[in-house]
Amino acid sequence: MADNIHPIFDKILGRADKENLLNQRSICFWLTGLSGSGKSTIAAAFEKRLHAEGFLTQILDGDNIRSGLNKNLSFSAEDRKENIRRIAELGKLYVHSGLVIICSFVSPTREIRAMAKEIIGPENFKEVFINASLEVCEQRDVKGLYKKARKGEIKTFTGIDAPYEAPEAADMIIESGVESLEESTGKLFRFALPFIAKN
Ligand code: ADX
Repeated sequence: MADNIHPIFDKILGRADKENLLNQRSICFWLTGLSGSGKSTIAAAFEKRLHAEGFLTQILDGDNIRSGLNKNLSFSAEDRKENIRRIAELGKLYVHSGLVIICSFVSPTREIRAMAKEIIGPENFKEVFINASLEVCEQRDVKGLYKKARKGEIKTFTGIDAPYEAPEAADMIIESGVESLEESTGKLFRFALPFIAKN
């Protein structure tokens, strides 16, 4: 049997070839936090900064993925897990293509985030806690969802009638309820640079 197998690994392009082409090191920055904490805004500003500095990036974001790839999933605990599992598999593909990816998902439990880290690979995964209090998020209520959740029009809403477990050992904490967007973006960029710069 083994006689008939002809491995071609030397001919297949690997992650290192792609990182070399892009002159960067690939990794996943995983942003977790309550709805309205500023994840998407910070992800967009962070990506823009990275792009301006010459890095090839890709954002994966809750509302986008849930209106496409994962539109068949609800906000039950089980579906949230499946949501994150698929995203992590997708993230893994991107990381192996040499890209710097920014994942922005509520990802509310430690178990869910541990699963994402395991799939993407612990060495490729930096957890970033976008920390704004429930009070701040609810007061902002950019999408009007907290109001609906309080009225009972949305069930199992994170922070209201579904849990959010803050990370215990995040690699970076962004105090988005206090810091300006510019401060947060600068902080994230300085944190990211040693992981993504070549040499
Ligand atoms: S996760 O819990 O499965 O990680 P995800 O990040 O994909 O959530 O999606 C969260 C976004 O969906 C929120 O920003 C909000 O706009 C919207 N949303 C709608 N219903 C809910 C809900 N019940 N809980 C949390 N977010 C919700």
